Amino acid sequence: MDSEFTTDISNYNLKEDGEVVAESYSNIALIKYWGKYEKQIPANPSLSFTLSEAKTQTRLKFSPKKSEKSEIKVFLENQIKPSFVPKIEKFFSSIQDYIPFISQYDYEIYTQNSFPHSSGIASSASGMSALAKCLIAMEKEFCYEMEESLKKASFLARIGSGSASRSVYPGTVVWGKSKDVEGSSNEFSIPINDEVHPVFADFRDTILIIHRGEKKVSSTVGHQLMQNHPYAEKRFQEAHINLRNLLKVMKEGDVDGFIKITEHEALTLHAMMMMSNPYFILMEPNTLSAIKRIWKFREEKRIPVCFTLDAGANVHVLYPKEFMKEVEDFIQRELKSLCENGEVLYDCVNQFL
Ligand code: DP6
Repeated sequence: MDSEFTTDISNYNLKEDGEVVAESYSNIALIKYWGKYEKQIPANPSLSFTLSEAKTQTRLKFSPKKSEKSEIKVFLENQIKPSFVPKIEKFFSSIQDYIPFISQYDYEIYTQNSFPHSSGIASSASGMSALAKCLIAMEKEFCYEMEESLKKASFLARIGSGSASRSVYPGTVVWGKSKDVEGSSNEFSIPINDEVHPVFADFRDTILIIHRGEKKVSSTVGHQLMQNHPYAEKRFQEAHINLRNLLKVMKEGDVDGFIKITEHEALTLHAMMMMSNPYFILMEPNTLSAIKRIWKFREEKRIPVCFTLDAGANVHVLYPKEFMKEVEDFIQRELKSLCENGEVLYDCVNQFL
């Protein structure tokens, strides 16, 4: 595919060997990406908050390849993980036109997550984003006049995992072409922090670990099931409308408006799963209990707290920083007991990376 990032190996001064490091934070989508076309082009635009605690750190060591095919070794928390290699191989071969030196080296990739292993927090967004940033750092070593390009990092990260393209930037981020977001693209994300009221700049996200471990159905399969989904087109159209409305309330600082759209999006995501063929449910009984308790608390206390869900059972509890004390007391009192081993992760929007 020809794009502004297509480049030629003659542009680089290749080094023998070396290592680069990078880190990236996880993100939680408010407008969900669920459904895609060829080459990781999203079926609708999405919007997310990048977090400030859940992160991946990656060290990429490279040396000239010893045989025809590049050898890739992946270590998670210093333990070798052969099962991670096929995904990275696929990623590297799909970005050959943009990082033309990629096939010249053998690699050792050392990666670690700040969040507990198999806590159900997806590491693909922060992981692929950190790896894409490593490749940009490597490119910079080979080509000194090259500017550090977050745009290209986001473009590469997208090819690795769609939601990873958003993790490249801090704060509120949009990925996918929308006529309501100037400069938006299906190929990379853009930060829109200047378009957002300060109340959202330090919004809290407390993650209730309702269920640890692998999901029963992966996001990849979920995206595929949108292909012959009877409600897909309507969903994709609605995502555009929800994005437009969310942008408006986020600009105005309208937290009640934010709550309505965010919860509607979360439940729409899970409704699409339930209406897929084959159908599936990723929520657990305690997911629903948590939602109902959040609604009751919000109504009784008139405190603006809401939830969103990722493609799993865990619940992200979202609220303005000014209500931290009340909401965290509530979480301890009424939500913690719904979590596996009482596990709760406190996070918030990250403004600075
Ligand atoms: C529900 O980005 O994990 O979290 O592009 O196949 O790697 P791939 O999928 P992925 O899907 C994320 C789905 C989601 C919604 C979102 O983050 O927007």
